[in-house]
Amino acid sequence: MVAEFLTPKSLPPATTATELWEVMARSLLTYWKNIRTTGMIMPTTTFAVDHMLRGVDFEQCQNVAEFGSGDGHTTKMILSHLPKTAKLFAFEINEDLRRSLELITDPRLVIIPRGAETLQQVLQEQQVPNIDTIISFIPMSILPKPLVQGILQSSKHCLKPGGKFSQIQYNLKMRPLLREVMPGSYFTLEMRNIPPAFLGHWFKKV
Ligand SMILES: C[S@@+](CC[C@H](N)C(=O)[O-])C[C@H]1O[C@@H](n2cnc3c(N)ncnc32)[C@H](O)[C@@H]1O
Repeated sequence: MVAEFLTPKSLPPATTATELWEVMARSLLTYWKNIRTTGMIMPTTTFAVDHMLRGVDFEQCQNVAEFGSGDGHTTKMILSHLPKTAKLFAFEINEDLRRSLELITDPRLVIIPRGAETLQQVLQEQQVPNIDTIISFIPMSILPKPLVQGILQSSKHCLKPGGKFSQIQYNLKMRPLLREVMPGSYFTLEMRNIPPAFLGHWFKKV
């Protein structure tokens, strides 16, 4: 039941429930051990990810970025929405979590072992002009303000007109900063997450 709750419906079950629990337990230990950079209690649910992706026209998406992919749990959920020809740039700074992320064998996935703050540079290196959608799981409320400001500024700069930036948070501490950099951004509440989460949404003007 819990495995169903956390696994994207659109993906075939790759493991048994027991194996899934083992993988999850290993990831949880890594998340908890690195709580200062993960800010994580439990993996984000499918409900929250789908809520973050509301308003995104996936048929038009060619380049998508995920900030803070963790063990790849949310990465798989995002991939399940993407067209066959799209690319997903998955930014993750934690080496242990990246080992699980690297088990995803999907040609659309490009793992970036660097911080989200390097987005602009990474896009230049990858020869990608801009990004259609950014889904961010990084714990912005516990990261230094200048770092968060830089990530928001470069996200705003790199998004395509009409593109969406979404951010999950467990409090509203970063709301003023998000509004300052991305005027018109708004938060919604997703109860079907542990704990219930605030989701920030912003669409770049066309
Ligand atoms: C809350 S976890 C999210 C994991 C997974 N996406 C989920 O939602 O279940 C946040 C992740 O962000 C990563 N992270 C923290 N700061 C980062 C940064 N500046 N750039 C990229 N990833 C970062 C952490 O290592 C951690 O894996």
